Order: sequence, then C-alpha cells, then structure tokens
Amino acid sequence: MNKLVKEIEARLQGISTTPYLDALFFVEAYERQQKEITSCDVDDFVKRIQKKEPVSKIVGERGFWALDFKVTKDVLDPRSDSETIIESVLSYFKDKEAPLSILDIGTGSGCLLISLLYEYKNAKGIGVDISDKALQIAKENGLDYNASFFKKDLFSKDFINDLPVFDVIVSNPPYIPTKEIENLEENVRYYDPLLALDGGIDGLDAYRSLAHSLKHLLTPGGKIFFEIGKGQEKSVIALMKDKGYTLLEERKDLAGIIRVLVFSFEGK
Ligand SMILES: C[S@@+](CC[C@H](N)C(=O)[O-])C[C@H]1O[C@@H](n2cnc3c(N)ncnc32)[C@H](O)[C@@H]1O
Repeated sequence: MNKLVKEIEARLQGISTTPYLDALFFVEAYERQQKEITSCDVDDFVKRIQKKEPVSKIVGERGFWALDFKVTKDVLDPRSDSETIIESVLSYFKDKEAPLSILDIGTGSGCLLISLLYEYKNAKGIGVDISDKALQIAKENGLDYNASFFKKDLFSKDFINDLPVFDVIVSNPPYIPTKEIENLEENVRYYDPLLALDGGIDGLDAYRSLAHSLKHLLTPGGKIFFEIGKGQEKSVIALMKDKGYTLLEERKDLAGIIRVLVFSFEGK
C-alpha cells in the first residue's frame, strides 16, 4: 500500500496542494470499499484532482465526527467546522443515555443527525431536506440508526405541520450570500450543490424563516443549534432575539471563528 501511495503522491505533485494526503485517502477508501485499484482508476483520480474535484467526491465517502458517510454530487461534503455543532450538543445534553428527540433541518448527507444518534444511542431523529437526491443519500447513511428522513421545505408555510416537538434542533442551512458564490473556491463552487450553499441576498434567508417556525417545535428545555457563516453572528442573533429566543452560546470552531449559535425559547 505504501508503495502505491507514494506512486500516486508523485503523480499529484504540482497538481494538488496536499498530494500525500490525497493519495493516502484515495488508497484507504478503496481498501475500505474492498475495491482493487487499477491503473485506469489512478489515471481518472489524477485527472479529477486536476479539475479540483474533492477527493471525497471522487471516492464517494467522507469522514465526519466518528463515522464515514457516503457522499455524491448531490450533497454538501460534510465539513470539520460542522463538528462544532456535535461538540456543542454534547456539552448541553450530558446524559448520553437520554432518549432525546432530534430534528436536523437541511440534513444533506445526514452527517449531523446520524453523528448525534451515534452518540446518543437511545435517541431518535428526523432529518428533513428539500432535495430528494440528498434525502436518498441520508437514508442510506442512516440505515443503522433510529432516523427517518422526509422532504420538507423550510420556507413553506406548513413546514411545522406533521412535525412533533424536539429536544434538540440542529441546522446547517445554506448561508452563503448569492453574490459570493462565484468567488468560492472551485472545489466548492463546482462540486457542492448550489442548493446547499445559496442563502439568498444576505445569506440569512433560512435563519429568518426558521426564527418564525422553530419556537413551535421545541420541548420545554429544548435547544436550537445553528451553524453560521463567518461574521454572521450579529445578524442571526438579532433576528432570533427579535422573535423572542434567548442566546445561550456563541461557539467557535478550531479556526477561532464563531461557527455555532445556541438558542432556547422560553416565551409563548
Ligand atoms: C449547507 S447544507 C448542510 C448539509 C448537512 N446538514 C451538513 O451539515 O453537511 C444545507 C442543506 O439544506 C438543504 N436545503 C436547501 N434549501 C432548503 C429548503 N428550502 N428546505 C429544506 N432544506 C433545504 C440543502 O439541500 C442542503 O442539503
């Protein structure tokens, strides 16, 4: 294996900024999937890396928290920044045996919900998304967990209909302002679905809509965990406070950027 990694690493010199890691990840993913690597596979891999396709999308999987998730062009590649949500939930709900009910809005690959269900073995959860194709991937990723996945549009008036109340609501909604999308790195712009990125003119459309609905979906003591983009904290906190929510925490990711906001709702 080491020899193959070295050979592929050599072919990626000048093409990738992380040739060793890309080569290692490629070889390890094939091993996990018990597939043999042919020279055609390697040629194809090098070509796709040259076109800035993320390794995860090429091999069809990405590690997040403690698990490997199936990923395709139809889902956002799970990001390590989003693990901040999992850390935050764990810090508020310390009893890992608790039978929590969890809602994940804009579930994508299902990585947030499924990682939480991995941590809280007695919990159950619902993941919703507007994308049928993403929901299909989430369902496959969630087969071993007490998870259900449904199509729902977070902007629709009847979003809360048919949903019970939840102890934990997590969401990493699309939050990139529309105009900034053309400036994103190629590996994001071309290989993550636009639906997962575009947050409207100021990037805040989803939070505005969720501020209306989520208060109706919380158990007493229930909490909301939002992932946000860099510098969005003031605006999101303001629009949530305006609808009566209480801010509990601004949590930073490993790069020191405020990445997760935690809210409760005590009002009526
Ligand atoms: C930033 S991605 C997050 C995916 C995943 N939760 C994660 O953290 O990796 C946002 C997700 O929201 C979904 N989405 C976009 N618009 C939506 C809408 N109107 N209603 C529900 N989900 C939506 C997208 O399809 C995408 O899967």
